[in-house]
Amino acid sequence: MNPARESASHAIHLKNHLDGTVLSDTLHQQASSSGTECSISYCSGSVVRPDKASGLRSTPPSTSHDEETLLREAEDFIAQYYTSLKRKDSFAHFTRWEEVRNQIVSSGTYQLKETELAFGAKTAWRNAARCIGRMFWNQLQVFDGRFVRTSQEIFQMLCDHLRFATNNGNIRSTITLFPPSVPNTPDFRIWNSQLISYAGYGTQNGIIGDPQNKSFTQICLDFGWISPSNQHGKFDILPWVIQVAGQEPVLFDVPKDIIMEVNITHPELSFLSDMHLKWYAVPCISNMKLQIGGLKFPACAFNGWYMDTEIACRDLCDENRYNVLPTIAAKLGLDCSRSSTMWKEKAQTEMIVAVIHSYQKAGVVMIDHHKACELFEDHLRNETKIRGGCPADWVWIVPPSATNLTVLFHQEMLNYKLLPSFEYQENAWDLENNALFLGKGTGFPAIVVHGVLDGPSTRENGKKLTFKGLVRIIIAGLYIMRKCIKRRTRVLILYGSQSGRSRRFASKLAQLFRQVFNVRLVGMDEYDANELRFETIVLVVSSTFGNGDPPAMGEEFSQQLFDLKMASLAAGAKALRRSNSFTGSSLFPSLWEKEPTSEKGLRMRVFYSNISDALPGDLSPFLQTIHPALSTVFDIIRPSMVYTSDTSSGSSFSTPERSPQVNGATEWSPNSRPVRSAPAKLNPNYINEEFPMINTCFSVFGLGSSAYPKFCGFAAFVNNIFGDLGAERLMSFKTGDELSDQEKAFQQWQQEIFEICTRRFDVQIRKALQLPHGHVQMSTLWSPSKFRGTPVKRKLVELPDSINVLSPGSRNLSQLLGGLSSLHHKNVQGALCLEVRQLLQPDAGRQILLIRLDISRCENFSYEPGDHVLVFPSNSKDIVSQILDRCIWDLGELSPSAANPFDIMMQLEPAIEGSPASTEWMDHNRLPGPLSVRFALTYFLDIAQAPSQSFLLELAQVLDPKHIHDREKLLLIATDSTAYAGWIAESYPTLLDTLQQFSNIKCPVSLLLTQLPLLEARYYSVSSSRKAFPRELHITADVIVFGRNDASGFPRLGLCSKFWTALKPGDIVPCATRVANHFRLPTVITTPIMLIGPGTGIAPFRSFWQELGAESVTSKAPLDIVLYFGCRRPDVDDFYAGELENAVVCGGLRKVYKAYSREAGKGRVYVQDLLRQNAQDVYRQCVTMGGHIYICGDVRMVTGVQNALLKIFQQEGGISEAEAKEYLVKMTEENRFHEDVFGLNSNEDSSNGI
Ligand SMILES: Cc1cc2nc3c(=O)[nH]c(=O)nc-3n(C[C@H](O)[C@H](O)[C@H](O)COP(=O)(O)OP(=O)(O)OC[C@H]3O[C@@H](n4cnc5c(N)ncnc54)[C@H](O)[C@@H]3O)c2cc1C
Ligand SMILES: Cc1cc2nc3c(=O)[nH]c(=O)nc-3n(C[C@H](O)[C@H](O)[C@H](O)COP(=O)(O)O)c2cc1C
Repeated sequence: MNPARESASHAIHLKNHLDGTVLSDTLHQQASSSGTECSISYCSGSVVRPDKASGLRSTPPSTSHDEETLLREAEDFIAQYYTSLKRKDSFAHFTRWEEVRNQIVSSGTYQLKETELAFGAKTAWRNAARCIGRMFWNQLQVFDGRFVRTSQEIFQMLCDHLRFATNNGNIRSTITLFPPSVPNTPDFRIWNSQLISYAGYGTQNGIIGDPQNKSFTQICLDFGWISPSNQHGKFDILPWVIQVAGQEPVLFDVPKDIIMEVNITHPELSFLSDMHLKWYAVPCISNMKLQIGGLKFPACAFNGWYMDTEIACRDLCDENRYNVLPTIAAKLGLDCSRSSTMWKEKAQTEMIVAVIHSYQKAGVVMIDHHKACELFEDHLRNETKIRGGCPADWVWIVPPSATNLTVLFHQEMLNYKLLPSFEYQENAWDLENNALFLGKGTGFPAIVVHGVLDGPSTRENGKKLTFKGLVRIIIAGLYIMRKCIKRRTRVLILYGSQSGRSRRFASKLAQLFRQVFNVRLVGMDEYDANELRFETIVLVVSSTFGNGDPPAMGEEFSQQLFDLKMASLAAGAKALRRSNSFTGSSLFPSLWEKEPTSEKGLRMRVFYSNISDALPGDLSPFLQTIHPALSTVFDIIRPSMVYTSDTSSGSSFSTPERSPQVNGATEWSPNSRPVRSAPAKLNPNYINEEFPMINTCFSVFGLGSSAYPKFCGFAAFVNNIFGDLGAERLMSFKTGDELSDQEKAFQQWQQEIFEICTRRFDVQIRKALQLPHGHVQMSTLWSPSKFRGTPVKRKLVELPDSINVLSPGSRNLSQLLGGLSSLHHKNVQGALCLEVRQLLQPDAGRQILLIRLDISRCENFSYEPGDHVLVFPSNSKDIVSQILDRCIWDLGELSPSAANPFDIMMQLEPAIEGSPASTEWMDHNRLPGPLSVRFALTYFLDIAQAPSQSFLLELAQVLDPKHIHDREKLLLIATDSTAYAGWIAESYPTLLDTLQQFSNIKCPVSLLLTQLPLLEARYYSVSSSRKAFPRELHITADVIVFGRNDASGFPRLGLCSKFWTALKPGDIVPCATRVANHFRLPTVITTPIMLIGPGTGIAPFRSFWQELGAESVTSKAPLDIVLYFGCRRPDVDDFYAGELENAVVCGGLRKVYKAYSREAGKGRVYVQDLLRQNAQDVYRQCVTMGGHIYICGDVRMVTGVQNALLKIFQQEGGISEAEAKEYLVKMTEENRFHEDVFGLNSNEDSSNGI
């Protein structure tokens, strides 16, 4: 850590002599010791380059590579980075620093992560004391070129940089970084001072062009470059001279199509147009060195946009530059004989007017110096508030024209150096190592290339392209093929998936985007939402679970999003308070000084589950119910933002209103990006604090089922909150309904978003990627002959069909448990089945089972009442064998002696490593190996659900075209959604059914291994208490029956249901536990509790009453706990009746209410009806006594119960519907309303949970 940081705060006061205000700078205490070159006896403030030549420095700054400096600067930088994430001293910070330190100690250097690199580059700009335009530091686009190895690759990246930055004149601040310095190795360098600059030819009649570039132009000419027009023009663009780590420099002409220039004209003075002056659009510095965390990047190119005076005063009017003032003055008829006629000022002012006019006319971003000064003054004040200061070099900051007329002239500034930083460095041609290449007539080997886009060319007058050079270009081409992916625009594809479908969709999306973007595919559980601010494009694919909740892997992510939202609200409110639009309120401090009080996790549920109905468009009453301060904040913030008029978008946390379904896709709100309504002064830091994702574009696709009331609720939440955090919505929110052609909706979104991204980021799409009608081709994921199976090294191990892996003594059990653990990131253990008990009478017409598991040998395996157990069922061996009978082996030669290749333990590998095809196979490692095909099909892959349309398309690939009829039918259901839906509804086909139906298919095993969905765990509520059964875990499981009987006449059972029915005592059940914080009993029970759980919804309550029964033996006060249970008839399916009676006797429950839906001679009664009958007691327990409600079971039952409760609150409390809803929200906020939703049960009567 920089010791200066710990020193006592010493402020330096900086006065503005215009208005008398004073800024106090304390940030200078963090200045680097290798700062400015001023001393106690002199000020070197006006020295342009305080280097060896100026006598101010004996060595160039920071050239040392000593480990101690590197460690110190790296540590300081990593701390800055985590401070920026508000996670300083967190575990993540600590771990990262350890990693960096180890890398430095072992290798003498380290690698920055991409997000650190982006932060470092932005901060270097923020710290650049001489730059007036850095208030937009946080919007810098960073391209990472650290991987490049050849000059051609650098050339390509620089082309991309210019193309991106130019953006048709709507300039984007951009930086591209190339490999950092490595100790004892020559650096990568770009010799040009700017990417676009004009040649200056020394002739007998003086210099033609830009005199500033005379030396460099001569070097280029010596290297064999000839100007584009083959003569000396005034505005010839210089070629790029690119040098790779000490190799000979290579010259590239800058492709014309990426250069944007502006002809200078004047709104009134036509002679100025006749002077044929012009200038380029993008000022892009390319000869400075960037320092981040002790690492040095000597080759980098960065640009902002122009301020008028840089061109109008300096470039065109300086005497040692284009020096056009005398000409203009003469044309204006000014008296140039004496300086006192002010002819220079007058002419220069016209030049400024001309430049501003020309850039405006050409639609190229430019800022005038007065505006720039105002913004910078604002930036100074703001930085002083946020950071304690802002280093600024007055000499450079104050513009060269009208100095005292700008606000900055009167502002005192403090110049000091902070790290990360941009540094001057020696001209590349002055480096000792390069002398070799500069000697004339030495057969200098530099290559002149006309731009790789056009292919290499030789020059008649210039040096010929050498054979060596040509070979290098070819090799470089291969490099480019492999490496160019990394320098493409970054796309983060984030998925949240419970049962694997979103993950599969996200993989497809990644496959498509990989063709032209640099893609990262990441699960929400592995991503830190705080890093979103560094992303360029984020595409989210997520499902919704529970009742509008995130899938389990998205829980932490959604909490982080919520925290970001809170921080941004607070930042907005603070900024408004600072800008005096707020006069003060006692509510405010409580908002940003402490978080809303509710328990973590719970808050999220409030936001995207329960509020939706209450708040279609307006946030404030909704926020009011959550935290009184928030709605006040929002009211104050809102006037400063313009939300689109569509109230369904905005900042609403509600689920989308579904418009009539079009192929399963749901159109939702348009862009709800908050736009600041022209604040008096543009204050970028204010925006960025408030809108941390301002630099990020995004789109969200939600997977869900319209059978659930909160359709795609979680994805809608993500979509809304990204917009609220300032991210730019690339297209409106799209959803795919599992009940209405989800896959097609996804494909449509995928195509559209791909087209939008390629357009938006200027990506050239190869022709092969386009369908004739301009649609992006939906290629299938799989293609034949791309994989091989490599047998495990020592010997061929066969795992024949007969072995029962799920038996305690099995050799392969630990492999299975380990495999499942790594596949699902869970601690999967083998629990021993003690008993499978039928809970219903034989004539009940269905089955509910009590499964008792012995968990005493499971490691780190514990649970509390209310938690879940994840069960990993396996597929029937018989079905797997039948499938294998219809498969062919396509994984290469294993061994001639292999009896049955399907049983050989092998490692699946892509056949052609590194080929473009294999890059598309990001999933090939998804199965934990080594394994046999049979093993994979039995335990890791889902063969029970109906094959998806894309899988069918892949199957169609392997069906011999001569089976025309089959192929047509297969293609029809694979591509036509109605035909597909009909096929599923008619036959409920599994993989085996499909292979039997299309019996001519010989299915390659690689297709199955790579394309079948993973076999996902099934969730069950723990149905026992460890207080009652210390060594056991119980499950109360419904046996799910769906569809018609199968081909053999047996009922179709759900996969896990089938697994349960085949389970015997002594078998092993692979399972893991999952904490369900939201469904736990209060630690101390002081208020009434209502448990509502019809059917198997009773499962978790069994763990409650067992727990409470065990406790109540020792407690004195009777507990006011009632249970509402529902079943069909008391004589057939009132399971647990005995236990319930016992629980009442033991004091675990006060009373049990039972609803029978099919009792002979009586009408249908459901738990909702009982609640209504007991309305007064319900009201007393929930409202008067402030008690808890727990509801568990099918989602439709949960919704029915919620509605019944709302009616009771209205009726008994005499309140409106909205107030009743608010009360439910309040209960949730107070952690008194708990739901555990099973999903949609296919069994009959399930909508009522029985
Ligand atoms: C948090 C939580 C807790 C739960 N707790 C319990 C509990 O304690 N007790 C309990 O009984 N349940 C509980 N459930 C529900 C339980 O997880 C599901 O009922 C169980 O996953 C069903 O699994 P299955 O493998 O038998 O059915 P699956 O094989 O998953 O089938 C489910 C449905 O998919 C469809 N389907 C499957 N294959 C096909 C096909 N080939 N063609 C067409 N459609 C098909 C059918 O509609 C079928 O009903 C809980 C669920 C959750 C989320
Ligand atoms: C227990 C459960 C709860 C669900 N809750 C919702 C819900 O509230 N809203 C919704 O739109 N879909 C809901 N769904 C449907 C899933 O989102 C849908 O099946 C999705 O396609 C699953 O995608 P995944 O495999 O990526 O997780 C639920 C499904 C289950 C099994």
